[in-house]
Amino acid sequence: MNAPAPDLIDLELTVNGTARQVRAEARTSLCDLLRDALHLTGTHAGCEHGVCGACTVLLDGQPVRACITLAAACEGRAVTTVEGLSGPLVDRLRAAFHAEHALQCGYCTPGMLVSAVDLLERKPEAGEDEIRRDMSGNLCRCTGYVGIVRAIRSCTRG
Ligand code: FES
Ligand code: FES
Repeated sequence: MNAPAPDLIDLELTVNGTARQVRAEARTSLCDLLRDALHLTGTHAGCEHGVCGACTVLLDGQPVRACITLAAACEGRAVTTVEGLSGPLVDRLRAAFHAEHALQCGYCTPGMLVSAVDLLERKPEAGEDEIRRDMSGNLCRCTGYVGIVRAIRSCTRG
């Protein structure tokens, strides 16, 4: 017997400033939509359970876990992935991650950058404790976090 056809839905959303129309299975996560349908592989799939933060993107300017966000819930909304981050703050943050050795394998880095940009925009004078607390939803298996915290701290006005 043939398997039933999957439920397909048509979505319109804005991704990194560009209007996109995508057809996907109704159960598709935003993470899979970005990676598989739109080929934006900077959004990393780690735990796929909403725990590690590797898949963090901005949805209407707010950080979300793309692995536990249904693509269907993003109809008409604006998504920013690590590929779409730009501006002086992002340039400084990228340079600081490089200078402070804030990555090793780099798997966590896209999510770290998205969360760090959100943090620095909300709290431009954040101290180390605040940075550690606000970044605690992004896990890194390699660095021990010291370089990451130092990189973000170097981009504050504090
Ligand atoms: S892959 Fe989404 S939180 Fe880990
Ligand atoms: S640099 Fe490898 S997980 Fe963070």
